[in-house]
Amino acid sequence: MRVLATIAEIRSVCEEARRVGGAVGFVPTMGYFHAGHRSLMEIARRDNDLVVVSHFVNPTQFGPNEDLGAYPRDLERDTSIATAAGVDVMFMPTVAEMYPGGTPHTTVHVADLTEGMCGATRPTHFDGVTTVVAKLFSIIGPCRAYFGRKDFQQLAVVRRMTADLDLPIEVVGCPLVREADGLARSSRNAYLTPAERAAAPQLYAALSGAVALIREGERRAGALVDSIIASVADAPALTLEYVEIRAGDSLVPIDPVRGSFVVALAAKVGRARLIDNVVVGIDGDQVSVDTGVVDAGSDGPSVVVNP
Ligand code: PAF
Repeated sequence: MRVLATIAEIRSVCEEARRVGGAVGFVPTMGYFHAGHRSLMEIARRDNDLVVVSHFVNPTQFGPNEDLGAYPRDLERDTSIATAAGVDVMFMPTVAEMYPGGTPHTTVHVADLTEGMCGATRPTHFDGVTTVVAKLFSIIGPCRAYFGRKDFQQLAVVRRMTADLDLPIEVVGCPLVREADGLARSSRNAYLTPAERAAAPQLYAALSGAVALIREGERRAGALVDSIIASVADAPALTLEYVEIRAGDSLVPIDPVRGSFVVALAAKVGRARLIDNVVVGIDGDQVSVDTGVVDAGSDGPSVVVNP
């Protein structure tokens, strides 16, 4: 695997791949890889000739009191995970390479979808994400880009940006990856103390409880949200930031629940801010649920878990 730091170098590698008819697959990341990143890389490897991973802790998507300075880093481990996943090139620019003039004068803003959920407490976050993703799309020119469904709102926002700007890129949503006890994989899990780590799976347990109520016939969004709030209250180490139920594509709040929708939450656990969700489909009496996959260890296959 090659590690490249300049825009000129990565551009030229991607241009050459396209010139000979190769499909470029792109996985944007902020590093500190876990099984979720690994699965994005493996999916990209399966479908493309050249796989590019960006490794850039993007300062513009962090708010003033967030964890930019403390964001976990382990380049040696990241390099070996990406190499094992078959990545061809890791693009690792400096902040000065990406933002030579400091804070960019041009930003990309996606309206509506960025309101509420994570946008409520992180008002500048999604502009930072869409601006850096638009830049990376322009630099790399992939035909496909891979994003995890854990960041459900981010995925919807990037999809909308790509469609609105007519970018010729297929945005591929990939399964959320969980640890064996249900905790969603996140680089920020590294912040958890042993006691916080022990409490954190209650977030998924609360979502699973709401899914059980849906399967029993509950359709009132308020009742489902209340059940999650009550369940998370059982773990005092967790402080819920939001629980929201929104339509799958438009992210419009829905009540009663119907069609395809996401039940999403964010919570503070010590220093960490964790997010999680389940995607539910209701079609008549049929209820389908996508809770993601659980990884069976660093080399093992992934299996689907449904509550
Ligand atoms: O999901 C992330 O890791 C980041 O938001 C992304 C998409 C790499 C942009 O910096």
